Formats: sequence, structure tokens, C-alpha cells
Amino acid sequence: MCGIVGVTCLQGKLSSPAKIIRKCLEKLEYRGYDSVGLASIFKGMIVVRKGKGKIEEVHRRMNFDGVPGNTVIGHTRWATHGAPSDNNAHPHIDCGRIVAIVHNGIIKNYMELKKKLIAKGHIFRSETDTEVVAHLIEEYLNKGFKPYEAFKKAISHVKGSYAIAAIIISEPNTIFFAKKDSPLIIGIGDGFNFIASDIPAFLEHTRRIVVVKDFEVGYITPTNVFIENLHTGKIVDLSKRLRFISWTAEMAAKAGYPHYMLKEIHEQPRALRETINGLGEEIEQAANMIINARRVFITAAGTSFHAGLVLDYYLNSIAGIATIPLIASEYSKYVRSVKHGDLLIAISQSGETIDTLMAVREFKKRGAKILAISNVIDSAIPRESDLTVYTRAGPEIGVAATKTFTTQVLVELATVLKAAELNNSLDVSEIADLRKQLEKTPKIVEKTIMKHEAFVNSIAEIVHRKNSMYYLGRGLGVPIAMEGALKLKEIAYIHAEAYPAGESKHGPIALVEKDFPVLFIVLDDENSENILGNVTEMKARNALTIGLIPEHFEEFKEVLDHSIKIPLHDHLISPMTYTPILQLLAYYSAVKRGYDPDKPRNLAKTVTVE
Ligand code: M6R
Repeated sequence: MCGIVGVTCLQGKLSSPAKIIRKCLEKLEYRGYDSVGLASIFKGMIVVRKGKGKIEEVHRRMNFDGVPGNTVIGHTRWATHGAPSDNNAHPHIDCGRIVAIVHNGIIKNYMELKKKLIAKGHIFRSETDTEVVAHLIEEYLNKGFKPYEAFKKAISHVKGSYAIAAIIISEPNTIFFAKKDSPLIIGIGDGFNFIASDIPAFLEHTRRIVVVKDFEVGYITPTNVFIENLHTGKIVDLSKRLRFISWTAEMAAKAGYPHYMLKEIHEQPRALRETINGLGEEIEQAANMIINARRVFITAAGTSFHAGLVLDYYLNSIAGIATIPLIASEYSKYVRSVKHGDLLIAISQSGETIDTLMAVREFKKRGAKILAISNVIDSAIPRESDLTVYTRAGPEIGVAATKTFTTQVLVELATVLKAAELNNSLDVSEIADLRKQLEKTPKIVEKTIMKHEAFVNSIAEIVHRKNSMYYLGRGLGVPIAMEGALKLKEIAYIHAEAYPAGESKHGPIALVEKDFPVLFIVLDDENSENILGNVTEMKARNALTIGLIPEHFEEFKEVLDHSIKIPLHDHLISPMTYTPILQLLAYYSAVKRGYDPDKPRNLAKTVTVE
């Protein structure tokens, strides 16, 4: 849930390593922004500057760029153990100030370790789980272990999840690291090396990367990278792990947009096109896994769960395959029934969401096969799955998922069409038609965004003054409505509820009074007559009605207060063409309310804590 980074360089190779680390942290701030800090080794001493607040604020107080030294580690925090505070900010140090450490994850047995260390005389300065590791390393150093051995010994006591980077004064040009369940990447340079939670952090400096795997430990120096398995001691052959990142640092930056979210909404046509171009033979393998499965479970969290509901609709209505969709954090209810032959489809843009990862592990343990849909190559969920279909959305920095949702839907539809072809559940000509529509989707999305952005902004002028709103749909419109409501909630902080329109009369319509906003997702499908009835019911209660409608649906225009007309296409494509409009509505509502849509309060991009 936090971002960690470190660099070590030869003297003069990088000008101001601390400034570089501050800039790397800015790129990681989406992972958490409760506090921030840097530590370095300089003239045989550990220098630490840290504090509560976002990077910009703390930098103004502390001048991070002035931290001296060629070996620097940094951290941006999303609080888990201990409130956001100066003391709980990372890096953490030991009693003798000979070790500094940054950590992303949760050390489950920290209380037990802390008690033992306190009994040995260690004094703790924070309430964090992380600090125990600094004291553990100190303990082993004091026993005479060499720095790397002391680091490994300390790590061997830790239970839980971690990506850890540590500096020790007796090895001033080295950063030690260890990983389990939290992401950790090495960036390899010429006369310098980086370590970070995510690639965009150091992409400006190098595109050569090595992904560290679970239970691996090692160290970087300015000219060397060493990785081994913590338990077996097997040394990693780096030449086999080395990868070259083709996307640029600019692609990860805002490219002139005021916020990452807006940039990422506009990037959708390109992300969809790249995802189409990237579809390979894994689509057929995935389709085979689905049609041969005894039962198909679908799991995910948040926006990815809404993509899961879209997949549920596709599999039932296109391929005639019944599914069991489940919110990842609720997986335990199902585990006793899971058997060999079952399939779990796990959807996660980050590939690191802990709830989804835990569901994957439990299902796998009980013999289910795992099919992942993810945006991050080599992330935890793909690594633990039998097969992964990747979206090609590129890095998504805004906390709100946008382009990753529409690209997830695209790979889902491509996979389900293949399944329908293999199990003969849909006419060959219909499949061919839908494939053509899929090809055209990036263009339709582009046109829709261009045509409606200004109008959506004007609707946000109304919506941003409201406290509550309904999003209604039927059929495939329901997950679209759910995704729209989640966007409004999470970035504009407006209460929004989505439910199947047919449910209105069973309770929710009681809340509707004059000017209560109700947004309808109207698709070109068999539900249009019924949903027109729902719009009329809401109008009769003087609700403020907004509709996303197919452009030829004249009768809706007459009843709705505001209509956003979506170009004609098969309704199965709608999650990709309608959702960007809802993303824009949430975005402009958030901005008009004065909020930063990229960093919504209480949220982090990737939830790695259960
Ligand atoms: O990385 P994942 O797709 O597994 O993330 C799942 C959710 O945490 C994520 O979609 C979250 O709901 C976003 N804030 C939605 O915008």
C-alpha cells in the first residue's frame, strides 16, 4: 500500500540522488500519501528527513533535495499500523542509527518480534510494524554478522507481506532488499541502480528492469545486482530475468492534462487499440479453460469486480455458460465447495490486490484452475495463475480505474466470443459481426468522448451540487451503472447508488423527490421498453432524469431532462462506450467540488492489505 524506492550511484554519476528519489516518490505517490521520507548514508552517518503529509508539503518543510549522499532510499506511505504522523513516517531506524529501512506491506508477527526486541533493550520510536526490522538487523549486526547476513537473518523472522529496502552504514554503497507479496522492481543503469515498487518511478533513468520474486533477497550497488532465494540460496541468473520496458516515462506522466485521471480517460481509444493488437493465442487457451470447466467462478474487487459482472453477463448471454461472480473479499464462503475441475477467473488491473490474491490462493489450493486478467506483467496474481490474459492499458496512475476497466471488458468479450465459437453457442455470422464491432470500438469511444465531453461537463455543473444520486440500468446496463456510481462516490464524494432499474418500486423510489438526480443507462437491447417505463416513473416523482441513450431512441429524449446520445452499436460493446462518459461526469463533478480526482481521500491505488 506504500511506495518504496532507492538508488545507489557512483560519485558524480547522477546529480543530486536525493532530488531524483524525491521525483521518483512523486511517481509513486498514488500508492499512498499519508507521509513521506528519505534516508541516506553520508560521511558514516544515516541522514533521515521525513514527515506527515504529501510529498510537496513535506519537501517544502524538510528540503528533501538537500539530503546528501549517493545511496538514498525513500518512502511514501498509506497508513496501516499507526496513524499518519511524523514518527510513523518511513524510513525507520534502529537504536544505534546504523540502519534505515523502508517497507511496503504488513508484518503480521511484528508484535511478537517487538516484545522480544524490547525485552533485549531496544527502544521503539514509532507504532509501525516496519520498525522491528531495523532493530532486528541491528541485533544481528551487534552479534557480529556481516551486513548482508544480518539483513537476511532479520528477514527470515518476518511473517507477512513485504517489499523492503535497507541501508546499513558499514556498507555505504549498498541497498539491501527483500520481497514477499508486495511488488519490487530493480532498474539497472550505468554506474547506478534503482529499486522501486513500480517501474514508472525510475523509468526516466533506465528502462532495463528485473522483477524481484517472492522470497528473494539481495542487494544493489552502483555497479552490481545480486539476487538469491532466501530459503534455498539459489542465485538468480540476471541475464534470464532482464527485461526492456518499451513504454516511456512521458507515457507515465500527465502529458499536458491537469490530472492523470483525465489523461487516462482520453487514453482509452489507444489503450483499447493496443489491447486488441496484443490479443494472442492465450485468448483461445482461456476460452478452452472456460468451456471445459466444471463451474466458472469470477472474482475481483472494486472496478475490476464490475468488469467481472460484465464477464458474467457475456458468458451467460453469449456463450450460454453459467457463472458464479463473487467479490474477492467474500471468497471464504465458497471455498468448501471448490473442487478439481472448477475455474476461477481473477480480474485485477494491478495484479496485486490482496483480496483477489487470497481468493486465487485458496481456490488453487482446492484444485481449481486460475485464469487471470491483469494489466501488470509478472505481478503476483498472474504469477500464481495457470494462464493470464493481459490488458495493454499501460500504467494507470489515477487512483480511479478508467482505461483499465474498458480494456478488461475488451479482453473479456474477445475471450467469450472465442468460447462461443468453440462451444457453438452463437451463430458464426453473429460472432464475426461482433468481432468487427470490437475492432471499431476504439474509434466509437474516441468519437463519443470528443462529442460529449463539454456537455458532460455542463451536467457535472448540476450533479456536483447534489448529495445523492441513483444510477439505474437493466441487464448489461447494471454493471455499467455500478461502475458509474463507484466513480462518483470515490472521487467526487457524492453518495451514489446503482441498482437494477426494476428494483425501484421495491423500495429505493421512496427516496426520490423533486430534483433528486437519477441517471439511466439505456442500451439498445430487449430492456428498452421497460426502462422507458422506469424513466417515466421517476419523472412522475419530479426526479431530475439524465440518460445515456442510443442516439436513435427519440422517445427517451422526450421524457429525459438531459440526454447523452451514444453512437449506434451492438449493446454488447456498451460497457466500453458508455463508461467513459460516466468517468467524465465523476471527474468534472470532483473538480468542480474542489477535489483532486487523482488522489481521493482514504484510498490508495492498490490495496495490498486485507
Ligand atoms: O488492481 P485491481 O483491479 O485489483 O484493483 C481493484 C480495486 O481496488 C480498484 O478497482 C478500485 O475499486 C478503484 N479505486 C476503482 O476506481
